[in-house]
Amino acid sequence: MSYSEKIQELENRKRKAEAGGGAERIAKQHAAGKRSARERIDLLLDPGSFTELDPFVTHRCSDFGMENQKILGDGVVTGCGTISGRTVFIFSQDFTVFGGSLSRAHAEKICKVMDMALKTGSPIIGLNDSGGARIQEGVESLGGYAEIFWRNVQCSGVIPQISVILGPCAGGAVYSPAITDFIFMVEDSSYMFVTGPDVIKTVTHEDVSKESLGGAATHSEKSGVCHFVHSSEQTCLQAVRELVAFLPNNNLNSPPIVLGPLADPPDRDCSKIARVLPDSPNKPYDIRSIVNDVFDDGNLLEVQAAFAKNIVVGFARLAGQTVGVVGNQPNYLAGCLDIEASLKAARFVRFCDSFNIPLMTFVDVPGFLPGTAQEYGGIIKHGAKLLYAFAEATVPKIAVITRKAYGGAYDVMSSKHIRSDFNFAYPTAEIAVMGPEGAINILYRQELQKAEQQGKLLDARLQLTEAYREKFANPYKAAELGYVDAIILPEDTRRVLVQSLKILSGKRERGPSRKHGNIPL
Ligand code: HXC
Repeated sequence: MSYSEKIQELENRKRKAEAGGGAERIAKQHAAGKRSARERIDLLLDPGSFTELDPFVTHRCSDFGMENQKILGDGVVTGCGTISGRTVFIFSQDFTVFGGSLSRAHAEKICKVMDMALKTGSPIIGLNDSGGARIQEGVESLGGYAEIFWRNVQCSGVIPQISVILGPCAGGAVYSPAITDFIFMVEDSSYMFVTGPDVIKTVTHEDVSKESLGGAATHSEKSGVCHFVHSSEQTCLQAVRELVAFLPNNNLNSPPIVLGPLADPPDRDCSKIARVLPDSPNKPYDIRSIVNDVFDDGNLLEVQAAFAKNIVVGFARLAGQTVGVVGNQPNYLAGCLDIEASLKAARFVRFCDSFNIPLMTFVDVPGFLPGTAQEYGGIIKHGAKLLYAFAEATVPKIAVITRKAYGGAYDVMSSKHIRSDFNFAYPTAEIAVMGPEGAINILYRQELQKAEQQGKLLDARLQLTEAYREKFANPYKAAELGYVDAIILPEDTRRVLVQSLKILSGKRERGPSRKHGNIPL
């Protein structure tokens, strides 16, 4: 073969690999509102930055007459590229090739980019669109999945792992995304479940659609499996870029410093907070209004926004530096901690701690949600996860008590006692064992009974509540003891946090030597 013939052969093979399952199947994919595996990569990465690996790999299965159906690439496009100039590794399953199903060769391609990502300390991003284990390959396919799962665990806490679900992701295949740090889904075209509607019908006689069983709404609102939902693949992949911009490439790096277009001054007044904080201690307000006033350009990338709305978690920037924000949300369930809120916040705190992202906690919590549903559901062990996560985190930890910090929830929400570095409170803060309504019933039972007999119960309650607030539920006792470092004015919040973060930039803290702790799972 001459040189030019060899070049021609290479071109032919490349064209064949790029054709995936063929024009007809790609058209079918488009008709379903989905993009091809390569189009998705183009949307995600910086233009022209993609370097493909293993385009000529084919499956090795010789049963079922499959030797005649070898398609170059074997249903997954893999390689690396850049997002905002930083290297990421990527795999993109191609549904037009055997339904994106996972063969041994397909799994090996994914494993190779995972290994490269780990070796180079770069994020790994998986675009999932697959019919699951390649049926013809049996146990080799199952082994392939397990190899991926094993790598997911090795990568956990070392490099950010992001899963984007852009089609089916069913059966055991869900467990790779489940181990990764963030899952993105697209409305109406992606779904995840361990057992599908047909199996459910057979076993439990329940009728349920694919969408309602495992669509984006279900996983973002009910199960909490999904972290971000978008209405189209385009907006979804753009959002992945935005998330990556907040994160370091690996656990040994710091997150990138990004100053927004407005270069928000670090010493700016937070003029809105005083207006947002209600006079009445029981009036709801949106904690996000406070958060937006504090951080750069009012920008918060909220994680799991539709799940456990009684706690808000997300990424923001303070003088350009990425921070993880955790805030009780008085607008929903009065900001109580419950099982779902504890799980949501604990996982977020642990992610931030793994990746050197300082934690900024805004506390307004009346306590844990009471009730049999919570107790039977294990609020004891789930609430303990959040406590554990805050306590074990060694990144800079700063907390601001905006209003209530009652009972065990005071301890849990990044209190000084579990080694928060700086704790501040507004003059409006109420720090006590419990809220006044419950406390006066216990402390002044006889006085209240007497007042009732005299027909003066309402007046007595008001008086005692006010006295309790004055005496017990104020921030000054905590400040006298050094549990709160300073009482600050709301308008100074940004200045104080910027300065505190600067002081903590050199923080070095190590836990005791051990294999790993035993977080109450
Ligand atoms: C081999 C598969 C396949 C699979 C789909 N295809 N899934 N080939 N193994 N698992 C092929 C089809 O034969 C078809 O080939 C093409 O992909 C497109 O599939 P369609 O069925 O035509 O597409 P659609 O109607 O959109 O349905 C998509 C689907 C369905 C819902 C995903 O294909 C399906 O139910 N597939 C099987 C899903 C499944 O049960 N997988 C195993 C799960 S268990 P042609 O040549 O006609 O285009 C599992 C265990 C993992 O994954 C364990 C890990 C621990």
